[in-house]
Amino acid sequence: MAQTPTTINIDEKLAQFDATWTPHIIAELNGQQVKLAKLEGEFTWHDHADEDELFLVLTGRLRMQMRDEQDEVVEQIIDPGEIIVIPRGREHNPIADPGTSVLLFEPAATKHTGEKILDRTVINQQRI
Ligand code: NI
Repeated sequence: MAQTPTTINIDEKLAQFDATWTPHIIAELNGQQVKLAKLEGEFTWHDHADEDELFLVLTGRLRMQMRDEQDEVVEQIIDPGEIIVIPRGREHNPIADPGTSVLLFEPAATKHTGEKILDRTVINQQRI
């Protein structure tokens, strides 16, 4: 039988790392992972061909730039307590105020920079 679950405290987990744009895994279920990340400034335009991606903003403020059906750049503001789901294949570019933290929920296979491998790409995301 699997281990008895214990409570996961999000603030305690956030206190364990400082690096921005570096998702840390805090839970796994059904082939999906729950991750925490600290964000600041602009990330990079990318998409995920096969995965939808959920962002829950915990602190700060996230501006999500996306390309609409006409290939125009549109943006949404996500404040603490709000979520946005980026559909698979949709190009997006997160831009975060200082002090922004988010919870991500996505399949374990999702690479945070999509198919682009950049200096920022974290291949082996740490479990905390
Ligand atoms: Ni993404």
